[in-house]
Amino acid sequence: MSFHLPLLLLLIAAATTLTSAEIRTTAVRSETRQVIPFDEFGFTHRGCLELNVTDIHLSSDKLDLSKLGFFLSTRDAWIHVVQQIEDGEINCALDSQVIKKVVNFDQIPKGQTFINHYSTISDADQFTLIFANCINQLASVSMNVRSVMYNLEGNKGGRDYLSAGKTILPRIYFLLALIYCVLAGSWIYVLYKKRLTVFKIHYFMLAVLLLKALNLFCEAEDKSYIKRTGSAHGWDVLFYIFSFLKGVTLFTLIVLIGTGWSFLKPFLQDKEKKVLMIVIPLQVVANIAQVVIDETGPFGQDWVTWKQVFLLVDVVCCCLVLFPIVWSIKNLRESARTDGKAAVNLMKLTLFRQYYIVVICYIYFTRVIVYALETITSYQYLWTSVMAGELATLAFYVFTGLKFKPEAHNPYLVIDEEEEEAALEMLKLEDEFEL
Ligand SMILES: *[C@@H]1O[C@H](CO)[C@@H](O)[C@H](O)[C@H]1NC(C)=O
Repeated sequence: MSFHLPLLLLLIAAATTLTSAEIRTTAVRSETRQVIPFDEFGFTHRGCLELNVTDIHLSSDKLDLSKLGFFLSTRDAWIHVVQQIEDGEINCALDSQVIKKVVNFDQIPKGQTFINHYSTISDADQFTLIFANCINQLASVSMNVRSVMYNLEGNKGGRDYLSAGKTILPRIYFLLALIYCVLAGSWIYVLYKKRLTVFKIHYFMLAVLLLKALNLFCEAEDKSYIKRTGSAHGWDVLFYIFSFLKGVTLFTLIVLIGTGWSFLKPFLQDKEKKVLMIVIPLQVVANIAQVVIDETGPFGQDWVTWKQVFLLVDVVCCCLVLFPIVWSIKNLRESARTDGKAAVNLMKLTLFRQYYIVVICYIYFTRVIVYALETITSYQYLWTSVMAGELATLAFYVFTGLKFKPEAHNPYLVIDEEEEEAALEMLKLEDEFEL
């Protein structure tokens, strides 16, 4: 059935949506898709939907207008509708009882080319606004759609344009930004106290912390602006800029620490430089994808493609940054066996192995677990997955800071005979296990 593909796409879109439903204007041009998803929004018991459609043009005057219209559907209801259509119970999603009809085109007076619709939604749930065209592939529709979804809050009935599960996000982001500021302050203090043993990488770590804090401030401001007004008013631009800088610097930092740059050796090898030269452009692509995803919403036909591009690039970056750490571990293992300072090398080796595991845990948690949480938690608790991801990130920053902080007494230099012998024993044991 020709219905399958759009349905599938809609399901994918619904399962991965992160965009905040703000006031959105979408130009629909000669559209023949049978199902067009617009934004998704979590309503409370006092939800409102405003829909203004202008310049409606149909490909023919003799179309059955009752088969064109907007409706709201939850994800579960949508699965039910798909089932009903496959079972032949209904021909058109608009005929289903489980959806919430918003407006049918046969309600428009003859000759009128616009719709101004307003409705309140009292059953709290997460709905997607969908346009259905059940005529056939030959009937196309052009129109400008402006959709506004919000919840009323408080006694005065102020509008909250953030979806039910996201409305406390501005506060969470602001709190996290403050925490990162405190961390940056402590880091500056550490750098000052241990200024004799500070390497270049430690200043770089400070930059990463500050960018993360700035990024969170912008995200908090962006979200709170959307919450109050329904649009971002330029805060999103700042947010994207800092997001990009944060992404690039964080991946670069992981690579630099992984290679041991500045505290093990003053320069990068060619293959390590190559990793950076691939990761940085990939981050540019990832950020462009992120902007497109956020700004177009599920309506855009390329939306799913950009989601996949983003996912792919992100996974590739995550895998690439592991290579330098693996190379370092290999080098350290070899030199532990050959040069005389087994204990020193073993310590470094342990540190790098820990770092390797922590990077993997961080990537796994922020990419897989957070995604799973986002899918299984109910829409009111969507913020918990954001929170979980941010806490994992915070833990990663703290771990990196603690493990690679400037040391006043370099532990690699004060090692006695006993430790050296113990280390040699350890290495021998390891070799036996390898064989
Ligand atoms: C959109 O429709 C609502 C509800 O009928 C109406 O109050 C509002 O003025 C319309 N907005 C625009 C921009 O036409």
